[in-house]
Amino acid sequence: MSDRPETIAIYPGSFDPVTRGHEDIARRCMKLTDTLIVAVAHTATQVKAPLFSVEERIELLTDVFAHEPRIKVMHFQGLLVQFAREVGATFVLRGLRAVSDFEYEFQMAQMNRELYGDLETVFLTPEHDFAFLSASLVREVASLGGDVSGFVSPLVLERMRERLEG
Ligand code: COA
Repeated sequence: MSDRPETIAIYPGSFDPVTRGHEDIARRCMKLTDTLIVAVAHTATQVKAPLFSVEERIELLTDVFAHEPRIKVMHFQGLLVQFAREVGATFVLRGLRAVSDFEYEFQMAQMNRELYGDLETVFLTPEHDFAFLSASLVREVASLGGDVSGFVSPLVLERMRERLEG
């Protein structure tokens, strides 16, 4: 047995809904950490009118990662750095899709470092098939009747259909 302390990473976001892109980033990170906490933020910066409630998003994430025992799904209120301290996280994971993500991600990483200097931010890039994918685009395409079956898991697809048709 190794004496190395357990590595805990947090993958925060709004996940409205969880996409194949999020799944890809989370699975890639399992090479870097013992445990990954996928954490739904009650206060996300850019989501104004969510499609799913936080509870529904947690349910969908739990389903998507049901076969990944080292991935836990949680939610948090308030500051990410506070949550990171509470769970003893070593680093924050974020996905970087394109150059357009960079400025915002850089600002958040710097601000989080100001607030909690011991917390690192690690960026992973998705499989190139998912490099263009965003939860907001998935919501928009689905709401206009487009096929998003390649971009989300079957349960997410079913729940989106129910929500948008209901
Ligand atoms: N291009 C296309 N779509 C974009 C985008 C971009 N550059 N940036 C955001 N979006 C869209 C996407 O659909 C995105 O969802 P996706 O990335 O999951 O596909 C969606 O907007 C939501 O973005 P945002 O509101 O920024 O939320 P997030 O899911 O990226 O997570 C948190 C942001 C939760 C990490 C951050 O708000 C946070 O830490 N909140 C807690 C409070 C806190 O500590 N605030 C201080 C942070 S320094």
